[in-house]
This record gives sequence, C-alpha cells and structure tokens, in this order.
Amino acid sequence: MALSVESIFETLWNQYIKINPQAQKIQTLLQNRGEEVINDHIALRTFNTEKLGIPSLAKVFLKLGYEKAGEYDFEKKKLNAIHLQHSENPNYPKVFISELRSELFSDETQQIISDIDHQVDVETVNDDLFVASGRSWDLSFEQYIQLLRESEYAAWTAAFGYRANHFTVSLNHLTTFFMLEDLNSFLLENGFVLNEVSGLIKGTPAQLLEQSSTMAAPVNMQFDNANHVIPGCFYEFAKRYPLPDSGKLYQGFIAASADKIFESTHTAK
Ligand code: NI
Repeated sequence: MALSVESIFETLWNQYIKINPQAQKIQTLLQNRGEEVINDHIALRTFNTEKLGIPSLAKVFLKLGYEKAGEYDFEKKKLNAIHLQHSENPNYPKVFISELRSELFSDETQQIISDIDHQVDVETVNDDLFVASGRSWDLSFEQYIQLLRESEYAAWTAAFGYRANHFTVSLNHLTTFFMLEDLNSFLLENGFVLNEVSGLIKGTPAQLLEQSSTMAAPVNMQFDNANHVIPGCFYEFAKRYPLPDSGKLYQGFIAASADKIFESTHTAK
C-alpha cells in the first residue's frame, strides 16, 4: 500500500480496533443510522528522548502535508504536546502528539524509559509506519507497575508502544446528533461505559471544545514473565464551537480538560 494520509489512518485504525473493538461497534452503530463518521483527531504518545520524542512521530504527517498548528504544556501530567493539521483538507483528522517529560520522574522510572529507548532501533524510528510500530521492547510487569505508580501515561506508553491511544468522532460532522449529551445518552443506552471522571463532558461551550469518551477497553497484555489484563484504548467524541470573531470552529485543545481525558486509561478501581 502506497503511503498516503488515508493509508496511515487505515493502518492506525486497524491496529486500534484490534485492542479496542468497541470503537468499531460504535462506528458501525453510527453508520447504521446513516452517519458518516469523520475523525476530529487521533492522539499519539511517546517519551521525550532524543530518539523517540515528538519529532519522530510528527515526521510522517509533515511529509503528507500536515503542519504544526498548536503547542501545549500539560504541567500536572508532565507532558509536552503539539497538534498537527492538514494544510489542505480540513476533514483529515488532526494529530495530537504528546511526550512525557522523563527528567521530572524518579531514577527508577528514568532508567526504564532509557532501557526502552535503547531497545528501539533506528530503522524502526525512520520507517514511515513508526507511529504504528507497537511495542518493540521488553517490559516486565514490575516495570509497568513502577511506571504506573508515577504516571499512568508512562505505563500505558511503555506497555502499548506506538499506536493511536484514541480516535475521536467529530460530533460537528454528525447529522442526527447536535449535542454531545444526546450522543452520550445514545451510547449509554446501547450499553457502552463512558468515562465519568469530573462528569461525562469535559470542557464547556465557552472553552469552545466539549469532549467525552468511553472507558478504556481491558487488554490481555503480555509482559516478560506473565500476562495481565490492563486498560487499553478509549474512543473519544468531540464537539467544537465557533470562534467569536471569525465564526470558524475552534481547532485547538484545552489543557485543563485534556488532563481529565487522560484519566480514561486509569486502572479501574
Ligand atoms: Ni483527544
């Protein structure tokens, strides 16, 4: 398959629904109502090492006509992030890429991240499909738990590697739902479990972005010495509001509410 925006997202989507089949079920449910599902954005996660940092995930999208359109500082989660938008086609998903600021964590955590970094070969990073290369390193369950103590984000990234953390349905492109509340009710009625940390909807019309998401699907993950069931990926839903001056839909991301969306992959208590 030749490299194109479509082929990259198809690869990422197929990889994503393998461990998050609820996303495919929801997409089919919406399509059965006559909806065409357009993705608002996908999210990718990494560590801020020289080899694995944001630029290594961004490069394939930049090659395909994407441009950097926003930069974020998630202080509480200790993350840097950017978002990319396609220069010509607004219906292509935005790409949200974040990286963990490894230096702000304990020596033990930094050592695990450094071990991961050493095990990823340069050819993997240079490949166009690096963003969908999954986990190419060994990880013990003890290491996963050590990371989880300090950062859910670090633990998820170490366990799942390079793949979409979530896809996000654009509510603005749906024709049979106008409010995010209506879509949430529809999903709850159909038996899906939504993330209720700080309420079903994160963000407000005044912040120009409202988002909700499913809880992450549990995944049977293979570690070095044993298998354990851990939280995988979630499916997100976003409604954007127009900017007061131009009337164009806001295209950015909100730090305060995204902090809460990150909690969708927290281990269920
Ligand atoms: Ni998102």
